[in-house]
Amino acid sequence: MSILRPRREDPPVLEEWYRRHLAPDVHDISSSGVHPYTFAEIRDLCRIPAEDLDKIVMDDSVSQGGAGIRQAIADRYAGGDAERVLVTHGSSEAIALTLSTLLRPGDRVVVQEGIYHSLGHYPVATGCEVTGLPAAAVRDGEIDPEALEALITPRTAAVIVNFPHNPTGITLSPRGLDALTERTAATGAVLVWDAATAEIAHRWEVLPDPGAAGAHTVSYGTFSKTFGLPGLRVGWAVAPKELLTATFPLRDRTTLFLSPLVELIAERAMRSADVLIGMRAAEARDNLAHLNDWVAEHEDVVRWTPPEGGVCALPVFRELERAEAGPQAVEAFCRELLARHRTLLVPGTAFGAPHGARLGFGGPAACFRAGLAELSAFLRTHKAAR
Ligand SMILES: Cc1ncc(COP(=O)(O)O)c(C=O)c1O
Repeated sequence: MSILRPRREDPPVLEEWYRRHLAPDVHDISSSGVHPYTFAEIRDLCRIPAEDLDKIVMDDSVSQGGAGIRQAIADRYAGGDAERVLVTHGSSEAIALTLSTLLRPGDRVVVQEGIYHSLGHYPVATGCEVTGLPAAAVRDGEIDPEALEALITPRTAAVIVNFPHNPTGITLSPRGLDALTERTAATGAVLVWDAATAEIAHRWEVLPDPGAAGAHTVSYGTFSKTFGLPGLRVGWAVAPKELLTATFPLRDRTTLFLSPLVELIAERAMRSADVLIGMRAAEARDNLAHLNDWVAEHEDVVRWTPPEGGVCALPVFRELERAEAGPQAVEAFCRELLARHRTLLVPGTAFGAPHGARLGFGGPAACFRAGLAELSAFLRTHKAAR
């Protein structure tokens, strides 16, 4: 008999859903990112001549990230202070490295409800005492002041949030962010801020990165969402140097550093961020205008809170809500949509929302509209069948 007995755990619903259902021939209107660029587009838009690629020495890079990419990130997000930047394999690695290093068993940690799975995983896996920040406490760009005071106390070790929130698109206003940073600073809690889609704002301006200053802030960013480069697999953390270097032992045992080839492309992309993000943000805004009309036309079957930032939203299906359906119902609903109409949403169960689904509007306009039209047809047949 084999002695190999791997420890089994359930994978995150979100990733398992994509593993099973994402295919090239589906109308994918589920993503939290914009439509990805080709490498030819990147070389052209970011001016990367072939000679620059040919000159790269395929050597090791360094633990915190190569000097060029670190400075490019720092110039945009960390007030030019490259010491506060750690470059990682997607922001997933930044989250894993920093939260594994920061949290201790028994720490009291406030975590936004319905948060992206890896942000919620580490406090639980570490054995922290986790309290939820309810979705209902965030409204019109502010966290309800009473909730802020009751949840974040001098005993709170960390507050973990993601704004604009994936999947609802709800975010904070500049005033709301100030109130949050004032409260975490006053209580001594670390503010852990995931800014994956911060660069696309709808209701207020793009928020400053709270990771850029202070001894008690950590923020995450990524090329995977608003930059249209999920396949580059580069993200970052902005945090005090002391925390970043404390992650090195874990990094030394896992991924060591990035490829210099990837770092060069990322550096050029960061220096061309306005162009890359600008083109995709314009497309997402057009799609959002169309989606607003679509929701108005379907208000008998769908309700939502319009997204305030990012490129996704969480429409709630009235039939599931009315039936007080359990989590399996929305997954069956999304599977049926996929089987009959080749259209992909992510069931809200991936985010603790049993009656809704993540709908992304960052994709190419034609594909987005085709997917929405299929969703309309599906909802009409469902309604007729009732
Ligand atoms: C809020 C949020 N944070 C982090 C990530 C991780 O992304 P990546 O590792 O591609 O940077 C995602 C991916 O969906 C996300 O939605």
